[in-house]
Amino acid sequence: MLKYTEQRLLSTDAALNPPAYPVRTKPGGSWLTEGADDWTAGFYAAALWRTYERTHDPAWRQRAETWQAGLARQTKQDTTDLGFKIFDTYGVGYQLTGDESYKRVVLQAADTVARRYNPNVGMFRVWDKADDKTQYRVNIDALMNLELMFWAGQNGGNPQHADIAKRHALRALQDLVRPDGGTWMVAHYDQKTGALLSHSTKQGYATESTWSRGQAWAVHGFTTAYRYTKDPRFLDAARRTADYFVRRLPPDRVPYWDFDVPNKATAPRDTSAAAVVASALVELSGYEADPAAKQHDTDTARDILTSLSSPAYAPRQPKFAAMLQHGTQHFPSGWADTGIMFGDYYYVEAIGRYEKAGNSTAAFMSD
Ligand code: GLY
Repeated sequence: MLKYTEQRLLSTDAALNPPAYPVRTKPGGSWLTEGADDWTAGFYAAALWRTYERTHDPAWRQRAETWQAGLARQTKQDTTDLGFKIFDTYGVGYQLTGDESYKRVVLQAADTVARRYNPNVGMFRVWDKADDKTQYRVNIDALMNLELMFWAGQNGGNPQHADIAKRHALRALQDLVRPDGGTWMVAHYDQKTGALLSHSTKQGYATESTWSRGQAWAVHGFTTAYRYTKDPRFLDAARRTADYFVRRLPPDRVPYWDFDVPNKATAPRDTSAAAVVASALVELSGYEADPAAKQHDTDTARDILTSLSSPAYAPRQPKFAAMLQHGTQHFPSGWADTGIMFGDYYYVEAIGRYEKAGNSTAAFMSD
């Protein structure tokens, strides 16, 4: 298990050099890469940090430091996605090493993201520039960027960062989570009055459908919001969005790219969404007071990880650069049915959390 994920990470290190950051696989199985300004640029270094966390082998720390070095210049980039790019690298790196220079990078990034917060809306805007006057859009994905703000606010940055992160999460719960626990992808607001205007989708099948990775971001994001705030509304939101996700999974526990897509016989899956939820469920199990519910979350995470680790999703051929195949980054753009670096990251994160919680991963990949 560990060998498989490590081998894939080492092959990527041998094949690429920063600033060519792996994003998703091309036909043939090698990585398509992007520069440091892409929102996904941190995930390879993030997977290296998580491997260092598991192994304590300084060689993994060295690789993580080499791969994250080019991201420090991104702290002024006007994007909410600095949460993904900077927290999962420098933030986790700081937690694992205590290197104060990493903390400074994280706090700078949090200050940049704070400028994207509008108090009328009570949320961080997504995609558009911080001063855009024409529209105000927020996606469900932005929940994943709140950890940067919670952590910065509680660890020496402006304490307001944590307050506005909480406000964002509460408004996302109000406006992006449906009564049945499903989620909309995008909410549009009037930035002067803060009124919710409408919903839409960019990466889902339809406005009223449920995009599976958006749902996964909600599960992971609300679970993290609960960790930092201990506000029971976030625990309930994590529970409801997780239950929705699990309820709608096909028998092999890996969702189609959108839960409501018709013609399921030909619809691509999204292994990245499955990996994100497996990781979140391990954390959520730790917050469950009821032993049966706790066990159910652990068992569900185990079942998802077992399926992801089977040859159907984790191809053993070394020519395929990613750990997981059948991921869908952006179906409307035609980026479907590939390996995805962030899917691999959450797979590594999930396995690490599962092990740390005292469970054996030996059965995931016994062949
Ligand atoms: N924006 C993150 C995603 O594509 O899921």
